[in-house]
Amino acid sequence: MAVRGNFSSKLGFIAAAAGSAVGLGNIWGFPYEAGAGGGAIFVLVYLFFCFALCFPVMLTELAIGRKSGRNAVGAFNALGHRKWNFIGKLGVLSGVLILSFYNVIAGWAFGYTFEMAAGNFAITESFRAYTTDIFAVGGYGLMFMICTAFIVSKGVSAGIEKAAKILMPLLIVMMLSLIIYALFLPNAMAGIKFFLLPDFTKLNLSVVFNAMGQAFFSLSLGMGTFITYGSYINKKDNLVTSAALITLTDVGIAIIAGLMIFPLIGFVSGGTLSGVGRGPELIFVTLPYIFGEIGGSAGSIVGMAFFSLLCFAALTSTVSLLEVPVAYVVDEFKMSRKKAAWLMSGIVYLIGIPSLLGNGYSAYFSEFITYVNATTSTDFLNFIVNVANDSFLPLGGSLMVFFAAHIWKKQNLDAEIAIGFEGYQDSFIRKYLHFVIPFLLPATLFIIFAMIVLVTFFGF
Ligand code: PHE
Repeated sequence: MAVRGNFSSKLGFIAAAAGSAVGLGNIWGFPYEAGAGGGAIFVLVYLFFCFALCFPVMLTELAIGRKSGRNAVGAFNALGHRKWNFIGKLGVLSGVLILSFYNVIAGWAFGYTFEMAAGNFAITESFRAYTTDIFAVGGYGLMFMICTAFIVSKGVSAGIEKAAKILMPLLIVMMLSLIIYALFLPNAMAGIKFFLLPDFTKLNLSVVFNAMGQAFFSLSLGMGTFITYGSYINKKDNLVTSAALITLTDVGIAIIAGLMIFPLIGFVSGGTLSGVGRGPELIFVTLPYIFGEIGGSAGSIVGMAFFSLLCFAALTSTVSLLEVPVAYVVDEFKMSRKKAAWLMSGIVYLIGIPSLLGNGYSAYFSEFITYVNATTSTDFLNFIVNVANDSFLPLGGSLMVFFAAHIWKKQNLDAEIAIGFEGYQDSFIRKYLHFVIPFLLPATLFIIFAMIVLVTFFGF
């Protein structure tokens, strides 16, 4: 058996797990989703999902991981339910697919760091030209993937944990400084109001679905990230407080990202907030403009600071995305960690090439597919987002919870959570788990999965 490794301390585990959760999803995804979803109302629904639905899923994943001491697939075998390991295989596949496009976006952010350093704020007018410059963005993506592979190849404590312990505090300090800066700009308040005061007339089903998808993705759930990380933790740790800390950090950073970006949008738009719903480009187009307004070397410094923190956040997430397939190959096929890390990242990079090309460079991948009843086509990158993030993650989450409640059995889940948590038997959290896990939670997640598939792909 190849050496598996362990986190060296509870803090190390929390840093790595929070590092997985905090990523592009928080700083790039959350603000644009909130912007498109009507602001504070989206935030409210998102918060509800994070705590009410996602938290129990995280706990379940951690318990399965720690009990089995195996990767996302092997965990099911180790618990004696080999037939159910297809859930883990779906997770490994999701991880590979998500990382393939995630790395492309991380590559853009990485490249932007240099653009900002060079004072090239005019990039705002030509985001498409930037993503079409295939050798540049492909090269940045490759460098990013190499960093990820390098960290994963170093192993759990010397690589993943160490990187997270350095990168996470740095990220928080940088974000807080940017907020302070943003809050003093003219019209900052217009942005803050949009972000914090809910307008209930904007609540609709698509807000609910998007908030759900965002919560799942942002917390790294449904693909076995926390089964894998859970397999490296200490038996004595309290899983409930760990999951709570990870969730709070992730949600906290998303809110901080909002507090940083919406005042900036208020400022650029002169208080009208026009362009707030522009979608995935929000960060790549709106922000450089602001850095350009600041101008000169100050603009460069703030711009560089922002995009490098985005890269740091992305890096601890790409590491966890790669770790899921790597742990699988290391445990199940007895490959060395080093070899597995480089091999897997190579494969993932290749799978990501159509996503790279589908942003203006290749017409075929840019207009890859037109779903039933859709008026516009979807590019390859967003097609993978729809398949892996929007569909596979809630499906995986639903299956895992169903498995834990009915196949592995609630009592076993309870027994694992109780280790390291005195008083669990009489706790509120146990009652809540027993309330949601048998039926409500898996059914809700499955319905959300089914509706997303019907609405997105079949135009219902
Ligand atoms: N949670 C990460 C983010 O918000 C993305 C991620 C998803 C990482 C799934 C691991 C697993 O950016």
